[in-house]
Amino acid sequence: EKGGFPYFMLKEISEQPAVLADTLRGRLSAEGSIVLDEERLSGEDFRDIDKVFIVACGTAYHAGLIAKYAIEHWTRLPCEVEMASEFRYRDPVLDRSTLVVAISQSGETLDTLMAVKHAREQKARVLAICNTNGSTIPRESDAVLYTRCGPEVGVAATKTFLGQVAACLLVGLFLAQARGVLYGDEVGAYVEKLQKMPDLVARTLSTVGPVRELARSLAGAKAVLFLGRHVGYPVALEGALKLKELAYMHAEGFPAGELKHGPIALVEQGVPVVVVVPSPRGRAVLHDKIVSNIQEVRARGARMIVIAEEGDHQVEPFADHLIRVPATPSLFAPLVTTIPLQVFACELALARGLDVDQPRNLAKSVTVE
Ligand code: F6R
Repeated sequence: EKGGFPYFMLKEISEQPAVLADTLRGRLSAEGSIVLDEERLSGEDFRDIDKVFIVACGTAYHAGLIAKYAIEHWTRLPCEVEMASEFRYRDPVLDRSTLVVAISQSGETLDTLMAVKHAREQKARVLAICNTNGSTIPRESDAVLYTRCGPEVGVAATKTFLGQVAACLLVGLFLAQARGVLYGDEVGAYVEKLQKMPDLVARTLSTVGPVRELARSLAGAKAVLFLGRHVGYPVALEGALKLKELAYMHAEGFPAGELKHGPIALVEQGVPVVVVVPSPRGRAVLHDKIVSNIQEVRARGARMIVIAEEGDHQVEPFADHLIRVPATPSLFAPLVTTIPLQVFACELALARGLDVDQPRNLAKSVTVE
């Protein structure tokens, strides 16, 4: 049942090209539009909303952070993202023109479920992004978009994170299309590029070998820092969460621009720092800024592990370890940059002799507060 892999997690990481293709299947039309014809979900519902609120926990929250960059960029609707456990005990401002997107792999996370109930009481419309057919959160929501990743046995989310990110991108493009904010040919260009993403994920997996050796060499490290900018920031958070969960190591993710406001004090000789570099073809300013962040950290003795697009030569002189990912549109980059971080955390945990499928103290679905 592990398909020849010693752990489910390794199998689930390897399934990601197929999983991504399944999440996208039937939702990208040959004419270049986004088709979400799920039950209870229609373009009409999305026309008169004026605000989006995303609620989720853990890894699903990181997918939500990525969604915010995409939704605001494509739709020009304000979008907030909040951990469900905070959202439900505040007094968030919601009404019938608010769209609440609840992201949950299991569909049973209690905090996310209570956030959904709270949102519906305030008359907001709730769309669930979920992996588990017929689970509670989709039942309590107005509409549901299933991620179709298949069952995930490893306690740490891997393939379902990719499915959640892809579903969020679909929702963002669907909203922009339904509201007429993006022109048909603009949506068409994204559709064409989304169609290529499963192949790019496969390519990323096929070149990830050196990450394994690198991770094994770091099994004795005390802590690892993760830096990113733009959508690379939630990816850094996700990389740090995976490492905490699986390897029980101190790991933290930061927006690279926040470094000098405190976290840089953590940098000492030899500390591994993983940097998720944005594409130099996207926002060139962001790329230049992260290159100077890399230099600042390296000057303080950190061991720099740099994840950068193929053909990005500017980072080469500052990387102790360079991990290449294929070029993608900026907003799609998390679908590839996350993969080396999953492999990194998994391999480091294995090098420390840990069971990556069942990390201590964690449960696959958190149905208590
Ligand atoms: C991390 C992880 C958790 C879940 C979180 C939400 O690897 O698995 O952080 O993402 O407990 O779970 P769902 O998505 O089922 O609501």
